[in-house]
Amino acid sequence: MMVCSWRKSRVSERRHLLGLAHVSAEDLVLLLDTAESLMEVSERDVKKLPTLRGKTVINLFMENSTRTRISFEIAAKRLSADSINISASSSSMSKGETLADTARNLAAMSPDAIVVRHPAAGAARLLADIVDCSIVNAGDGWHEHPTQALLDILTIRQHKGALSGLVVTIVGDILHSRVARSNIYGLKTLGARVRLSGPPTLLPPEFAELGVEIFYDLAEAVAESDVVMMLRIQRERQGQNYFPSLDEYAHYYCLTEEILAEAKPDVIILHPGPMNRGIEISSGVADGPYSVMMNQVSNGVAMRMAVLYQLIVPGADGIRGSELAQPVSHPLLRAGGEG
Ligand code: NCD
Repeated sequence: MMVCSWRKSRVSERRHLLGLAHVSAEDLVLLLDTAESLMEVSERDVKKLPTLRGKTVINLFMENSTRTRISFEIAAKRLSADSINISASSSSMSKGETLADTARNLAAMSPDAIVVRHPAAGAARLLADIVDCSIVNAGDGWHEHPTQALLDILTIRQHKGALSGLVVTIVGDILHSRVARSNIYGLKTLGARVRLSGPPTLLPPEFAELGVEIFYDLAEAVAESDVVMMLRIQRERQGQNYFPSLDEYAHYYCLTEEILAEAKPDVIILHPGPMNRGIEISSGVADGPYSVMMNQVSNGVAMRMAVLYQLIVPGADGIRGSELAQPVSHPLLRAGGEG
């Protein structure tokens, strides 16, 4: 099923970010560069650009979330958009309204973008097909979580420079992970070598068709890796028992300092959060010198600012310098003519 595009909607000229499966290297780099230039906004005393003044962003979150929802909300506010949050319990979906009807009603209030998280794969695509505003997928079931992968890739690029040729190992519950899928697509497009590791029940051999290497032994997977990305066991997305017990899972797949010693000496450790200490990652590793998890969270705001900017601003090929509270470095944000 083709569910990913970040360019054109079927109902209008609006652009969407539904997944990374079909996003080109050029567009990925554009988003990474835009995010990098927006990072310094969060370092300022007054953390705000007027770029999206008068625009409205609705965060429609039908699943629990701490980082992603707050990150999108902060990103919209730092660009001066009005942002509104709706959760499953506070929406009329709790009264039996369908997602499509909820979305049509929201769209009738003329938002510029709807950021949607939903337990069903394809939910973001559905909205993109029926409403006339930009849709950003903030995680749809097992399918994709493009902004998480973009912020992960941004974090890797910051620490390692070019992505090409890097060995990136993703470990854990690959089967149920939208984070893994989006990362596989984005990392492969940018030339990284992707390894996957986890128990066979959570890492079916079919994943090899995506052009990745599969390792059922964690130490072998981690050996000589430049980047190790740990994933949570997605118990809420599992309908059956995929391993005998969490203790047993941890015995084979918990990233400890001992296993990490097999990686490259300058390895970095990522985790999208929320993490379960002692299950997929030891506290020593989570809090240790190789962990870049808090960089991921900070980068998430800049990346979501970049995505909102690129989707909502028509053309997105420049913002007048006079609109800026303070000058910023990226050509997109310089005065007309300079960039
Ligand atoms: C991830 C998600 O929701 O898919 N978390 C996140 O967005 N930060 C991963 C997870 O829930 O384990």
